[in-house]
Amino acid sequence: MEKLGIAITGSGSAVPETAVDNQALTQLVETSDEWIATRTGIRQRRLAMATESLSTLAAAASSQAIAAAGIQATDLDLILLATSTPEDLFGTACRIQAQLGATKAVAFDLTAACSGFVFGLVTAAQYIRTGVYQNVLLIGADMLSRWVDWTDRRTCVLFGDGAGAVVLQANDRDRLLGFALKSDGTQNHYLNLAYAASPQNLIPDVNVAQGNYQPITMNGKEVYRFAAQKVPEIIDKVLFQANLSVDQIDWLLLHQANQRILDAVAERLNIPEHKVISNLANYGNTSAASIPLALDEAVRQGKIQPNHIIATSGFGAGLTWGAAIFQWGR
Ligand code: ACO
Repeated sequence: MEKLGIAITGSGSAVPETAVDNQALTQLVETSDEWIATRTGIRQRRLAMATESLSTLAAAASSQAIAAAGIQATDLDLILLATSTPEDLFGTACRIQAQLGATKAVAFDLTAACSGFVFGLVTAAQYIRTGVYQNVLLIGADMLSRWVDWTDRRTCVLFGDGAGAVVLQANDRDRLLGFALKSDGTQNHYLNLAYAASPQNLIPDVNVAQGNYQPITMNGKEVYRFAAQKVPEIIDKVLFQANLSVDQIDWLLLHQANQRILDAVAERLNIPEHKVISNLANYGNTSAASIPLALDEAVRQGKIQPNHIIATSGFGAGLTWGAAIFQWGR
């Protein structure tokens, strides 16, 4: 019989070696360890040096996930890379496919900022549920250090670089218990990494826009408000859909944007602190990488065990947000 359920069977992660603590950032902008730690919970972040690349970091995380799932790269049917910081606008997933030697896999990028991993999870699930693909590698990887304005203290202290990956496989039992995805483009202006261009005349009456991507701009207060309201709402909705009560959740695994957002969401949902996975003190906000990075750490630390129920939610630019509830393992 055809297996049309989904199981997440392996995880992996990789971060750049260079750690930069809050104190070090005081050399760049007027800030303090105290301000950053109390407002965000972040104490340090990893930054990719100029010689490092997104594809190499993503491939390292992927190799671990493939090994943990007990398959070979050549077994993969699909590679999805959730990223907002591709090393080539035409896509980075194919470079990862080449580095892994995943010759059979089709590979493409998916852009949904900090919601990218959850959007990718749901996208991967559709291919498995329809019987099209059996083995999918989903990567969340970002290097926002290449896109922040390092003179803007409101944003530069928040972000770090990293990569996380999971393998999803067709399974008898469907371990994806529910999901919901949302977008609201009317609030797009709150968080942008926008292209700015000026007209360049080519020939009479023909001009094209030529320019560059501008550093990240963010209205922190509005993004905070949005996350604190929408994330509990969507997790509640998915719990209802999955016919689960909140106390059946073993772990709350949110996009690691700000400890205060994690606390506010957990409080709204009545989830005790010991069930909230948090590693942003060490990595900051790694965008699409933050959920699989925190997931992989929790798996390797033995916190997340087979059959545990995990509620995850990503939220960010777009604006986009989404939630999924799944059970770990086959
Ligand atoms: N160091 C010291 N002071 C600072 C810093 C800093 N790094 N950054 C801002 N300040 C100052 C501000 O200038 C302001 O000073 P002022 O009152 O004299 O103008 C003061 O601190 C307060 O600033 P606020 O912006 O009001 O600070 P707030 O308490 O709202 O915290 C923060 C800011 C941490 C950004 C918060 O709003 C937040 O976490 N928002 C959510 C952001 C988020 O999650 N973004 C990621 C989304 S994911 C994605 O898609 C990329």
